[in-house]
Amino acid sequence: MRTEVLPVDPTHPDPDVIARAARVLLRGGLVAFPTETVYGLGALADDAEAIGKIYAAKGRPAYNPLIAHVPGESEARRIAAHWPDTAAQLVRVFWPGPLTVVVPRGPSLPPVLSAGLDTVAIRAPRHPVALALLRAVGRPLAAPSANPSQQLSPTRAEHVIKGLADRIDMVLDAGSTSLGIESTVVDLTRDPPVILRPGSVSLVDLQRIVPEIALHQQHSSSHEPRPSPGLDRKHYAPRARLVIAPRSDLPGLVHSFHPPVGIITRGTPLGVSDARERTLPADAEGYSALLFDTLHSLDDQGCRTVLVEEVPADPAWLAVRDRLERASAT
Ligand code: TXA
Ligand code: MG
Repeated sequence: MRTEVLPVDPTHPDPDVIARAARVLLRGGLVAFPTETVYGLGALADDAEAIGKIYAAKGRPAYNPLIAHVPGESEARRIAAHWPDTAAQLVRVFWPGPLTVVVPRGPSLPPVLSAGLDTVAIRAPRHPVALALLRAVGRPLAAPSANPSQQLSPTRAEHVIKGLADRIDMVLDAGSTSLGIESTVVDLTRDPPVILRPGSVSLVDLQRIVPEIALHQQHSSSHEPRPSPGLDRKHYAPRARLVIAPRSDLPGLVHSFHPPVGIITRGTPLGVSDARERTLPADAEGYSALLFDTLHSLDDQGCRTVLVEEVPADPAWLAVRDRLERASAT
């Protein structure tokens, strides 16, 4: 199929464009759309056949469940079998926004959405295009990040096209996403609730509302069932090999690898010759917003290795450290 790319204003989406995308979705098609985190690959969340197309287009393993996107809490309650008090408390503060809650799955959603689990991950995004599309469709949308499985998430429509061209019906192009890193996923079916994937809503933010929320500890035993299949170690990876190192080691390391070598520094450039250096903002928010875009572009320039300056150990950097560690896992 030929993938149609429709430009759309990020703050005031044209209702005709949204209506065209909604029609494709309602026929069971695949439409990639922007959210404030990354671009999602949307299909009807209550239609097993449409969901199957997402798994096929991404090459996603059948054991990895999808997030159902809704415009708000009342729609979320309708698709959950039970809406815990913790969900009500959290979404009143963080929705619409980059928080995904895992709750018991209701009967309107097919098991394949959740890869057979009896829970479902739900999120109300705050991007105006995503919200307009959800309202126009009037049904929940399953939407994983719009990239081939295991690769980098897309923060621009061009990234979606690079990975999924001709495998999906349409892309709504609203430019770069603002947060640049996927939502925080918190499992509310466990006691105490745990963060399965760190994101821009931090542990501290969540604990202000629900103090008992904990960080999921990765277990070494491979016999334990996966709490979240998306926690596979190797994930979110660029094509290039990622090597994380202290700033002072970077100039020396450049010549250990086949050129071209990319370098990602933080705050101040190093000015290493013979490398494609990108300097990201010194604060975690600014850094997250540009990280995936930078990795995409170093990949596109053919860098086989990307050296990344270590980021701070403090909690504000948790989500960035998580993505860098996964991307550098071999
Ligand atoms: O920011 C985001 O969350 C983006 C945008 C498009 O909304 N979506 C996204 O989806 O990152 P995806 O499929 O790439 O990641 C979903 C994560 C995976 O780690 C998956 O394992 C986890 O959520 N997940 C989904 N349903 C789950 C469930 N029922 N129980 C535990 N984890 C679940
Ligand atoms: Mg993903």
